[in-house]
This record gives sequence, C-alpha cells and structure tokens, in this order.
Amino acid sequence: MSKILVTGGAGFIGSNFVHYLMDNTDHEVTVLDSLTYAGNKASLVDLPSNRFTFVHGDIRDAELVDELFRKNDTVVHYAAESHNDNSLDNPRPFLETNIIGTYTLLEAARKYDTRLHHISTDEVYGDLELDDPERFSESTPYNPSSPYSSTKAGSDLLVRAWVRSFGVRATISNCSNNYGPYQHVEKFIPRQITNVIRGVRPKLYGAGENVRDWIHADDHSSAVMTIVDKGVLGETYLIGADGEKNNKDVVELILTTMGQPADAYDHVTDRPGHDLRYAIDSTKLRTELGWKPTHADFESGIAATIDWYKANEAWWAPTKDATEAFYASKGQ
Ligand code: NAD
Ligand code: DAU
Repeated sequence: MSKILVTGGAGFIGSNFVHYLMDNTDHEVTVLDSLTYAGNKASLVDLPSNRFTFVHGDIRDAELVDELFRKNDTVVHYAAESHNDNSLDNPRPFLETNIIGTYTLLEAARKYDTRLHHISTDEVYGDLELDDPERFSESTPYNPSSPYSSTKAGSDLLVRAWVRSFGVRATISNCSNNYGPYQHVEKFIPRQITNVIRGVRPKLYGAGENVRDWIHADDHSSAVMTIVDKGVLGETYLIGADGEKNNKDVVELILTTMGQPADAYDHVTDRPGHDLRYAIDSTKLRTELGWKPTHADFESGIAATIDWYKANEAWWAPTKDATEAFYASKGQ
C-alpha cells in the first residue's frame, strides 16, 4: 500500500484513474486539481474518506506542491490543459500549466526523490498519412503540430532532462485518444452523444477522414498502473489498443446506436492544422511489462458510454451551452 498523489484527478482520465485505484488497489489517493472549466468534483463523489482526499490547488503553486510531495510516495501527473481547439484560441494557459506546472512538479520530485509518472499524448509525434504502414513507436521523432501538443512535447522533454541531469525517478507514457465516462462535452465523442440527446445534429470537422486510435479510459488506467508498478525508470511507454477509426465512422456509429439515420450529421469548418492520423504501436508495453487492453470491442464501449451520458445529464448539462457557444463562434 502506498500514498499516491494524482494531479488533474478531477478531469476526465484522472478521475477514471482514481476510480480504477479505488476499485483495484488499496492505495491511499490524494487528488490535486485546480478545478478549471475541465475539472469537476462531481466525477469524484462517493469515494471512501479513509482512502481519498481532495486538495483544491494549482500544480504551479510550489509551496503546496512541496507539501504534497513530502506526504506522498508516488505522483501520477495528469493535470494539463488538454483541448487542441482551446489551444488554437488561447495558447497561454497551455504554456502555464503544461510547461511551468510540470517544471514545478519536477523540482519537487527532485527534492524528495519522489517516484513520478508523467502522462502524455501520442500527439507529440505529429501525424501520419492515411496509408502509412508505420505506426508511432517510442523511437518516432517528436513533431507536434498544435500549441497543445507542442507544450505536451515540451513537458516530456523536461521530464527526460530531469531524469538525466538530476536522477529524478520518472517514467513517461504517451497514450492515444481516450473515450468513456466523465469526458468533457467539448471533446469529439461526448459532444456528438450529447448533441444527439438534445436533438442537435453531430458536427464533423472537414471531410471527417481524420483517424484517431481509440482506447477506453479504463485500459489507459490499467496501463498506467502497470508502468507505475513495473516500468523501468527513465523509460517511455506508448499506450494504445489498436483502435483506429476515422471520425466519419465514429459519428455514424454513435448515430445508429442512438436510433438515428447514419447520415444525420453536418460537416463544419475544419480545425486549423488538423492532424490527419494517429496510430500507436504498443508492443514495448505489451511485451516488456505484460499489459493488454480488456475493452477491445469499440461498439459495446460506445454503447456503454452513450448509456452513461443518458443517465448522467446532470453531470454534463451545466457545461453544454457554453461549449456550444464557443464552437458556434468558430463556425464549428
Ligand atoms: P481534462 O482536461 O479532462 O482534465 C484536466 C484536469 O487538470 C482538470 O481536472 C483540470 O481542472 C486540471 N488542471 C488543469 N490545469 C491545472 C493546474 N494548473 N493545476 C491543477 N490542476 C489543473 O484532461 P484529460 O483529457 O483527462 O487529460 C488528462 C491528461 O492525459 C493530460 O495530461 C492529457 O495531455 C493526457 N492525455 C489525454 C488524452 C485524451 O484522449 N483525453 C490522451 C492521451 C493523453
Ligand atoms: O491523441 C490523444 C489526444 O486526443 C489527447 O492528447 C488530447 O488531450 C485529446 O483531446 C485528444 O485530442 P484530439 O484533438 O484528437 O481530440 P478531439 O476529441 O478534440 O477530436 C477528435 C477528432 O474529432 C479530431 O480529428 C477532431 C474531430 N472533431 C472534434 C470535435 C470536437 C470533430 O470532427 N468534430 C468535433 O465537434
């Protein structure tokens, strides 16, 4: 049993990770989260008070971070500004949280010799052609496209530098697109599901041929815990579940699963610099650490996710109108 600090634990993947820890381990968990527009304490209700503590604060607050690192054995770092479209609108918070925030945690890890796992994204590798036989691997050169992905790439490089220069005990994982419960309605899959619930047609950027490599958030959590338990310090592991789908196919699946005609969606203004395709080769994680995903069936994963959004309108409704107003202002 150890004491784990989860930064960004009120966000989508962080909250799924906290639930995973509660259900599958006996670790004591503290969440540090500043509750930006993307953080939601309602994602962390009904957790046992003897094993769970919530701290409302910022990862750039060095004094608070110092205190929390002193009290915990392991830190899993999810906190970030995470949405590409927002980063195109206003990059500054991405630099602040993703770069300065990660730097603040690294300095505390260095001081207390804390085991740190840094959560990152496959977007640091840029994008692939649709017909490229290669997928991203741990040796693919970094080539990020957006303000979001470039700040995540910068944060990864900081972690590597702190490992090499100061001996910080860290690992990094770069995961593909997650789906599942507790995801903010700004993101592709929950945006379309909640649109259909509200009788609004889904919105597809451009032609909808862009490919994402989908993984259920639970599988991301089990992969992260595998790396925390068995990963080699200083190493990077790619996390993916062989879930490549183009956006058009995903929208059509959502529509038909929700009893609508498959073509009941609109094409809208494309994202500037829109990455074409992501694809992950997770052989290293599977062969060296023995991890494998358990939510392999995307259709049933989407059906369960649709059911979750239908059953939890009170969770997402307060953010839906502002999200759609932002998209409408950009023709999306
Ligand atoms: P999210 O936007 O849903 O959640 C981010 C959380 O971080 C929120 O709770 C927010 O309040 C918190 N936060 C933001 N700035 C903070 C700060 N300065 N101090 C403290 N807390 C702060 O993001 P997500 O989709 O859950 O992504 C979590 C992590 O996983 C990110 O690092 C992201 O880059 C990475 N990632 C996401 C995906 C994906 O598909 N969503 C895939 C791969 C990697
Ligand atoms: O690959 C991992 C990344 O996945 C993470 O690092 C990011 O934090 C996460 O947000 C996600 O990034 P994407 O930009 O791929 O996700 P998003 O949900 O914004 O969009 C998925 C795809 O769907 C992308 O090709 C853009 C498209 N899209 C998105 C929205 C919101 C649409 O076609 N219509 C939409 O309304």
